[in-house]
Amino acid sequence: MTRSSAPGKVYLFGEHAVVYGEPAVPCAIERRARVGVERRDDDKLRVHAEDLSLDGFTVEYGGRTDDRPDVDVSESLIEAAMGYVDEAIAQVREVTDEPAAGFDVTIESDIPLGAGLGSSAAVVVAAIDAATRELGVTLPREELADRAYRTEHAVQEGQASRADTFCSAMGGAVRVEGDDCRPLASPELPMVVGFDGGAGDTGALVAGVRSLREEYDFAADTVEAIGDVVRNGEDALAAGDLDELGRLMDFNHGLLAALGVSSRSLDEMVWAAREAGARGAKLTGAGGGGCVVALDPTAETETALRYLPGCEDAFRAELADEGVKRLE
Ligand code: MEV
Repeated sequence: MTRSSAPGKVYLFGEHAVVYGEPAVPCAIERRARVGVERRDDDKLRVHAEDLSLDGFTVEYGGRTDDRPDVDVSESLIEAAMGYVDEAIAQVREVTDEPAAGFDVTIESDIPLGAGLGSSAAVVVAAIDAATRELGVTLPREELADRAYRTEHAVQEGQASRADTFCSAMGGAVRVEGDDCRPLASPELPMVVGFDGGAGDTGALVAGVRSLREEYDFAADTVEAIGDVVRNGEDALAAGDLDELGRLMDFNHGLLAALGVSSRSLDEMVWAAREAGARGAKLTGAGGGGCVVALDPTAETETALRYLPGCEDAFRAELADEGVKRLE
């Protein structure tokens, strides 16, 4: 039995635009997915998941999802979760050259699914790491990030950047532009996350931005403008200038809203944070529902979000310096 954990993340800047080659800066946060893997003596895959905001499910199957788990949660969330595990195991079989390896996989996660905190990337990174080690192969973090990216790329039908998976494997703040991925030095950031209890459909949201971008030159310009915000954001991060970081996060949120990926509850949380004195606030991840991230060294934003009717949870997010952790 091997166990690995990997962190979720927030985007300080650059989601969606990163899919079209603009830079992005995600930061890993101390909310983790933990995956335990045990080799079976047949070629089957059994997955048991807890705390995925799915009430827990267990499913056993011999190949692609041919059994439906009997739980009362959205079919699309189950399918999404199973699709990621399936493809992660396909990557493991390929990289270890063990095409017939079967596994019992147990997943626990304190990252809500589809909420913009990188739940799927964290599960995929931890699953690939634990399953390869179970077969006696320890991948360097960069290769682990690459295999996790291939998993997301396959499941999301080519609509994925390397940002989520690289950040989860490496930890800390990172910069991703196309295939160029590198760690970034970051000061300790006073990040507060607000969660509306909902989830967005990453594939549909990415497809929506893609069609806007194809239809309107000004939507393509908006995507490029996000790239400019990110480049300015990198300078502000290097200088540790919280006021400038906040201003740029506000700008980034406005551009994402123009691309149609915000929602009423995300906008309400962003405004509650700003009115509480946050230096800046924006949605994080694919949008449509889920989480916002704000910068506030005081307790005001967290308190304001807790009292906001549309906010289900608010918490301070510590930067996770370590990406994947090898637990057993
Ligand atoms: C989703 O967490 C972030 C997006 O930019 C998609 C991606 O980068 O793969 C919307």
